[in-house]
Amino acid sequence: MILGIETSCDETAAAVVTDDGDVLSSVVSSQADLHARYGGVVPEIASRRHLELVAPVVREALADAGTSIEGVRRVAVTQGPGLVGALLVGLSAAKALAWARRLPLVPVDHLQGHVASLYLEPGPLEPPFLCLLASGGHTLLLAVREHGSSERLGTTLDDAAGEAFDKGARLLGLGYPGGVEIDRLAREGDPGAFPFPVARVPGLDFSFSGLKTALLYAVRDLEEDEVERRKADLAASYQRAIVEALVGRAREAAERAGLERIAVVGGVAANSGLREALPEARFAPLALCTDNAAMIGSAARFTAALPYPSYLGLDAYASFA
Ligand code: KG4
Ligand code: ZN
Repeated sequence: MILGIETSCDETAAAVVTDDGDVLSSVVSSQADLHARYGGVVPEIASRRHLELVAPVVREALADAGTSIEGVRRVAVTQGPGLVGALLVGLSAAKALAWARRLPLVPVDHLQGHVASLYLEPGPLEPPFLCLLASGGHTLLLAVREHGSSERLGTTLDDAAGEAFDKGARLLGLGYPGGVEIDRLAREGDPGAFPFPVARVPGLDFSFSGLKTALLYAVRDLEEDEVERRKADLAASYQRAIVEALVGRAREAAERAGLERIAVVGGVAANSGLREALPEARFAPLALCTDNAAMIGSAARFTAALPYPSYLGLDAYASFA
């Protein structure tokens, strides 16, 4: 059994997965409520909350899996990218647990973790495939030809797709995190009501900042009560623009890379508009789209473990190379 720990942003998560990819438990404690009043994640608050939650969350994951630390053979943990202070809490906890039991430790890249959410039972996806990774921090097109590695084909030049959802939600006075709120509201609106632009940048990259500005101007040009009345139309049109950009580029990238299948992972993979617009794609299971530790445990199955006690000096990293 592998114990996975994830604390890169505002979710404190622990999970137990087997070498065969069965998820025995997955506990996610979201801090969203704590950060909601600030309209975004406050790094220092996140670190402190991780510190309070990491031990009880690990304990719960072990109990849910019907095991204890004695049953664990490897400890896997997110090393980066993410908020360094937040990452260090999970990394320190993982080192301490592994060291105390003389276990190997597997440092996992958060983005490879998202991809590995596709490798879990039931019905794991096998490479090769084109992976669209769309989260609050990243928008990537990856050519995945084997487990454990990928080639980056495209990324965002400014905001990440999830960030665009969150910022749009803020402009519309919706709650945080905004993706779910826009998703919900968009179902009642007309996606063609506002002709928001889908930015076309060269290559296989994305740009969402112009779209955000277009929404800002649309809201500014409407009377306050009209914004209120047409909120669902604004949300639906805004979501449509983001979805069109993601779908267009994902299909283009798959074709260029000669990959027949498309998979979508990350928080934005939970979006119902995106799921509808890309019916041929494989989506990560809903519970594994947003940050969790089962995907970290899964990635550890395809990542080299560091033997006891060589990992004690390991550091976290904030951004990907
Ligand atoms: O993967 P994730 O939990 O964290 C990062 O690694 O960033 O992704 C969080 C992002 C947030 O921006 C959130 O608004 C977005 O995923 N998100 C959604 C939906 N659920 C979460 N965006 C659109 N529609 C959703 N249903
Ligand atoms: Zn993530």
